[in-house]
Amino acid sequence: MTKNVLHESLGDPYADITSHDTYLSGFPHAAFMRLRQEAPVSWVDDPEGGFWAITKHADVIEVSRDYNRFTASRGIRIEEMEEDELVARRTLMELDPPEHTRLRRLVQPGFTPKVVATYENAFRQLTRVVLDQVLVEGEFDFVTEIARDLPIRMLCRLLGIPESDADQMVAWGDQMISNADPEYTPVIIDKVDTEEYRLLPFRAPAALDVFRYAEEIALERRRNPQDDIVTTLLTAEPDGEPLTDLEFKNFFTLMMVAGNETTRHTISHGLTYLHDHPDQLEAWRADLTGGSEDATEEILRASGVTMHFRRTVVEDTEIRGVPMAAGDKVVMWYTSANYDDDVFDEPFVFDLTRKPNPHVTFGTGRHVCLGASLARLEVRVFFEEFLNRVQAFEVGEPDRLRSNFISGIKHLPVKVNA
Ligand code: HEM
Repeated sequence: MTKNVLHESLGDPYADITSHDTYLSGFPHAAFMRLRQEAPVSWVDDPEGGFWAITKHADVIEVSRDYNRFTASRGIRIEEMEEDELVARRTLMELDPPEHTRLRRLVQPGFTPKVVATYENAFRQLTRVVLDQVLVEGEFDFVTEIARDLPIRMLCRLLGIPESDADQMVAWGDQMISNADPEYTPVIIDKVDTEEYRLLPFRAPAALDVFRYAEEIALERRRNPQDDIVTTLLTAEPDGEPLTDLEFKNFFTLMMVAGNETTRHTISHGLTYLHDHPDQLEAWRADLTGGSEDATEEILRASGVTMHFRRTVVEDTEIRGVPMAAGDKVVMWYTSANYDDDVFDEPFVFDLTRKPNPHVTFGTGRHVCLGASLARLEVRVFFEEFLNRVQAFEVGEPDRLRSNFISGIKHLPVKVNA
């Protein structure tokens, strides 16, 4: 094994990829490697009936781009939803064109690469303030002290929410997206009866608090419009009709979760990879600004924080000759696609100069991540500032999130020589 190899332990080739517990020891790379080689389109049973697991890069692209064959409107996570749940919980993510196009057009302007570039100074300042406060401690939990703090503070600014509410936002976000981890919620999705919460995002009671918060913000912005995304959503009329209260609340919730949890885990994974690959780290340091865009892409590829998203077959079809019936669930494993050796040379090598790097960490097609430019900026700027200040660092054992959906790190002990 060369010292650039990622993920020393690839896990059990026969691991249960549906189990939240499996991911406590990291992404089960050996299992997905076996699937890519032996059965790239394979049926996986689960208590709700099962789904097709799509593990190759080319097939992920095919499914994501063909919304006529594979709809997002029946849900985008493995969980099965009844019609009333779908209606109650529907966001941008669970729409196909043309409805999706109208709503996406509404929110897109705040997230174009050009607009996002104007946020760079603000994010750099924010990062500097947080690093200056925390690095002096010498030893700390990187996740709770740094990674958890930064993306949410930026998001608060974009949404026009007071930064003093950031901690509360993160706590609510954790309770929703990390709904299988007992550290974050007592209402554990696969262990507790969540029937009474079935009409709420992530079947999580915390969504009620987020909804109440969103209602207050909406009331305030209607009275006192600002130059922010929330005001745009409340005043725009995508279909000749303004967003309904429920649509607004669901979108607000989506932004809070999507724009906060994902970037934070990417930064934490990135730190562990850099620690484990000192040659790569030193090469990046030697050309910190010039190398940062490619380095960011490799961190994004290797970490693949949102491990899958789902579509549903519209009419009987096939992929790679494997027949699929209308109504079947199709789960695209983005993190597996990022390690597909048909596309990436030596995918298990961490190479900060890798180019091209066509990872699907942000998905592709109509639903490609709205916040991709923002996430890229945050990861890049964070590491530029961190590496500028920190000469050497040690990283302890990551405490991983219990989730088959988000590849997350809850705690990461770090010792720095700033
Ligand atoms: C490293 C960080 C991030 C990762 C890994 C990530 C991942 C993804 C992926 C894979 C999708 C596509 C879902 C699908 O195929 O159905 C997506 C969509 C989305 N993301 Fe991100 N995301 C990140 C950061 C962000 C940020 C910072 C924001 C907002 C501030 C954001 C907001 C969204 C939204 C609103 C969508 C839905 C887009 C649509 O359906 O048209 N994400 N994200």
